[in-house]
Parts: sequence; structure tokens; C-alpha cells
Amino acid sequence: MSEKHPINEMLDRPVVMPKVLDYMRQSQKEFAEPINELENYAHENRVPIIPHETAVFLDFLLGVVKPTDILEIGMAIGFSASLMAYNHPERHVDTIDRYDQMIRNAKKNFESFGLMDQVTILEGDAKDILPELDKTYDFIFMDSAKAKYYDFFPYCMDRLKCDGLLMIDDIFQGGTVFDELDTIPKRVRKIHKKLNRLLEVIQNCEGIETTILPLGDGVLLVRKTQNRSFHNDFSL
Ligand SMILES: C[S@@+](CC[C@H](N)C(=O)[O-])C[C@H]1O[C@@H](n2cnc3c(N)ncnc32)[C@H](O)[C@@H]1O
Repeated sequence: MSEKHPINEMLDRPVVMPKVLDYMRQSQKEFAEPINELENYAHENRVPIIPHETAVFLDFLLGVVKPTDILEIGMAIGFSASLMAYNHPERHVDTIDRYDQMIRNAKKNFESFGLMDQVTILEGDAKDILPELDKTYDFIFMDSAKAKYYDFFPYCMDRLKCDGLLMIDDIFQGGTVFDELDTIPKRVRKIHKKLNRLLEVIQNCEGIETTILPLGDGVLLVRKTQNRSFHNDFSL
């Protein structure tokens, strides 16, 4: 029997309208002064850092999760690492980056914020560093080259404690991740394929729970629910 339902017009509207985005970017709280200054500096100088709505969410989420051991993949000038560590002496952040200029700037920032004891910079390519790590973490934030998220995923899971969270930034490629491959410029096809593969594999992967948020260019949150190896699921 067919039954008429009231139309839920929100279902047919994009979730993030420009005015909603403006609100989330411009009207949500500012961070403590040095972090706020670094965020403004990064935006003015077009240094790639997480957008404000993602930063506010990250800050909120860590307040709930209460991690002590954090791993970051993709540090840039240290904005997100500083945000996670500042005013939280109980937290330690190990953060990976391979780009000298970013590392020099991040060091200066950590020094001036008094975070040198709380942040450890791991210099080099995450593909070499991740397999060598032996520590485990409550929270991992991955914000590096998108074509590598799929490859790095099982290594992140190796290093994540059971019940720990992995947050991955920028998974939508501006929404083009859902377009047909032949409409995608050749230079970004690898990213397109790898992000699609990641989204596909996590759907049916045992031992994790996931959710996706339309913040910035898309955030994937993964909770590890079983202590197992994920390398076979993410075969190359
Ligand atoms: C988007 S930026 C990180 C921004 C930072 N999370 C923030 O919000 O303040 C990405 C960084 O990842 C680094 N990166 C990309 N691929 C990497 C890899 N395979 N190994 C190490 N660092 C990498 C780049 O050098 C760049 O500094």
C-alpha cells in the first residue's frame, strides 16, 4: 500500500550551503591567542591547514576523547599539532612531515608556544616512518597526501589502541571523488582511485566503525573496535 509521506525538503538540499559554511568558518569560537594568530597567519599566507570548522570539531572531539598519546601525519607549520597540544599538558603529539621548510617553521612555532616537550617532530616520509613506529596512540590525525591515505590506513590501525580514533581529513576532493573516473583530470586520477578504494573498503571492513562528516573537504572518522591486522583488507 502506498502511503504519502510529508516531503522532507532538507533531503534534497546540499548540507553545506554557502551561508552555513560562512557561519561555521566565521562565527564559531576563536582559539587561544597564539593558536588563533597562527591560524590567521596560515590563511593569509595560503599555508594548507585544516579549515576553521574542522579545527573547531577536532578541538571539541579531543575534549570528549581525552587522548594522551596522539599521532599526526601531515604537520605543515604545526597549526593542528599546536591546537591539539596547547593548554593540554597531559597530551603528547608525535607529528610527521617530510618538507624541510614546513619543519623549520613548525619548530619555531612549537618553541614560541612552549610546546617542545609535548610535541615530537618525526622528520621524513610517512611511508618509511609509519612501519617503524612501535608506540600506540589513542588518537591519530591523518592530513597528508590524499593518494596515500589508503596505503597508510593499515599502518595507522597497527598503531591505534583498541577503541582509539583515526580522523582523516579531505576525503571528498571537492565532491569530485564521486564523479566518473574518465571525467577526472589525469594528474589527479590516482587520488580519485585511492580515495574511492578507501571509501569502498571501509564499508565492509571488520573491526572498525566509521562515520563521515561534511566538514571542510570531508572528514572520515574511524573507531578501531578489534585488535587485528588490517593489512590484508588494504592490499595494494
Ligand atoms: C595539509 S598539510 C597539513 C596541515 C596540518 N595538519 C594543519 O592543519 O596544521 C599536509 C602536510 O603533509 C605533508 N605530507 C604530505 N605527504 C606526506 C608524506 N608522505 N610523509 C610526510 N609528510 C607528508 C606535507 O609536507 C604537508 O606539510
